[in-house]
Amino acid sequence: MGGFEVLERDGLARRARFETPHGIVETPALLPVVHPDPARQPVSPAEMRVRLGVRAIISSAYITWRTPPLRAEAERSGIHGLLGFDGPVMTDSGAFQQHAYGSVEVGPEEILAFQNTIGSDIATVLDRFTEPEAEHDVAAAALDETLARAAAARAARPGLLAVPVQGGLHADLRARSAARASELADVLAVGGVVPLLEQYRFPELARALAAARPGLTPGAPVHLFGTGHPMTFAFAALWGVDLIDSSAYHKFARRGCLLFPDGTVAIDDLREEVCRCALCAEVPLPEVARRPAAERERRIAVHNLLTSMEEIGRVRQAIHDGTIWELAERRATGHPALRAGLEEAKRWPDVFLPTEPASRRAFREISDASRVRPAVVRFRRRIEEYVRDRPLPRRISRVPLRPDYLRRIPVRDREGRPIAWSCETPLGSVPLELIDLYPVGPYLGIEEFADRARHRPPAAVDTELRALEGLDADLDRDWSAEWTELQVRALLALEYGPIVADELAGRLRGERSRRTGRLRTLLGDGRPWFVVGTDGIARPTFFGGGQLVPVLGEGRSRVVVSDDAAPFVARGRSLFARFVTGADPTLVPDQTALLVDRDDALLAIGRLVLAPHEMPRLARGVAARVTAHAAAPIAAEDAEAPGSPDARPE
Ligand code: GUN
Ligand code: ZN
Repeated sequence: MGGFEVLERDGLARRARFETPHGIVETPALLPVVHPDPARQPVSPAEMRVRLGVRAIISSAYITWRTPPLRAEAERSGIHGLLGFDGPVMTDSGAFQQHAYGSVEVGPEEILAFQNTIGSDIATVLDRFTEPEAEHDVAAAALDETLARAAAARAARPGLLAVPVQGGLHADLRARSAARASELADVLAVGGVVPLLEQYRFPELARALAAARPGLTPGAPVHLFGTGHPMTFAFAALWGVDLIDSSAYHKFARRGCLLFPDGTVAIDDLREEVCRCALCAEVPLPEVARRPAAERERRIAVHNLLTSMEEIGRVRQAIHDGTIWELAERRATGHPALRAGLEEAKRWPDVFLPTEPASRRAFREISDASRVRPAVVRFRRRIEEYVRDRPLPRRISRVPLRPDYLRRIPVRDREGRPIAWSCETPLGSVPLELIDLYPVGPYLGIEEFADRARHRPPAAVDTELRALEGLDADLDRDWSAEWTELQVRALLALEYGPIVADELAGRLRGERSRRTGRLRTLLGDGRPWFVVGTDGIARPTFFGGGQLVPVLGEGRSRVVVSDDAAPFVARGRSLFARFVTGADPTLVPDQTALLVDRDDALLAIGRLVLAPHEMPRLARGVAARVTAHAAAPIAAEDAEAPGSPDARPE
């Protein structure tokens, strides 16, 4: 029950499938809030499904329970019958209404039993809503009660259960709440944040999420209560939020406000047709403004849902593309409060780094703040370590030198003393031999366009090199062999440490691309051991992996495969999370690992989808995709890998 499978991810953000009794929810998903009273609901759930592509909704069990005719109908035909929706329905317990209106009519057992009765797909514990202002002792007492109720609810609930994560702005309480919810819940519902969202207090929201994050199990979807504005969806996804609810589409419509991913527009101010979504194309917005109140509200609500559904689609696409940071930064330019929230997010790199991928296809600078993304923090840390191991007198080049010129770079001065070259880049000073690595290699920022340094002709660089004081080198000499050796060692040192690099580098020869001058292949005895990607990372071939096993320390770069899956992985099948019995905890998603059996025999080379700490906690899904393997591939007819009918082709 409640299978949760991560398909793709970009840092904490993930595209996943969450199974409910009424079907699968593809996440990140937007669950519009539906009022159980059809008279108070501007768009019917049926219309949402057909016209807007809504797959799942959330409604209030509490309002249903306290309104006799609704309650009677729900008891008779279930919540799906009441709402006229046969997809997944999550219900909320009324904690928020009880908090906001101060009523305490229903008890936790009663509202849970009611959610069971009406056939809710995901029932929510009646939590104690904690205001951001709550003092520690007040928040702690409320949390204890929420957790006691959650434990009781778990025992009384056979189906999917959402456990709210409270704790106000107290980091220790958020962490405890998240950890305990992770033991009890099928859905981890971060609550108590509506005031933060409504008052645009995004830095505090970021701190609450940062505090909760390490405690949240990767094995269950995370819901964020009250994230209605589409402007915030990318921000939420960035923190690993999988389920978003929206009552904003309706609340804003009541006030005559149109939602867009980059902000809000009051319809009465409109003189132009700023939206031509399917609905606004039918009746131009300035005219909608003049329609009778009910129609006007309805039309705005549908527009708001359309833009919200579109935005959640963009979020999912961004996760696929590996551009969730770009999208979040672009959205943050829409409002200074959101920008402040994103800046706060960047103060918590260690929350992001365990799941931050080894590389992405691109790195595009949206603003100056792009230069402190977690990917850059990791890169800087690794460079510091690298330079610490290799202290040399440095020569700074302000020009990011391109590979064309690299063969002209001397690695020794005239007296034969080694020179370390370093480039000043927008991401800080980078040893020249590492200049092709992600994120600095694929980095695209305004410098690229503002000054044409990277496109300067070689002659200009020659002059620059000659001009550097103290270096009177013969620049007609071809330095490429020595330079290449240095670069090969550097790539290995960064990936496997200086000892392994020293061990292997002497046995390898680097081959460059004729077209770009970049390192492409590292060969030993004429065979490729490593292939260098466009992200500048040297990834082992199967043969190269075999050379690494004896020189890498025990467990390093390894993922250990259980006996029953080993034969299939050896023949090229993806490694499913539940067949992992151990993994080097320093590995990260998208990194290349050695997939070995229990005796450390190499089965395959794989690219990780999951971080090591996630593998034991995800019952479903692929932990690593095999890129090279030991044995002949499995023929289609005997492809019965254990538990692999859900295997997708590479
Ligand atoms: N809706 C908005 N915020 C909350 C919350 O903290 N708990 C519950 N149960 N529902 C909410
Ligand atoms: Zn529109």
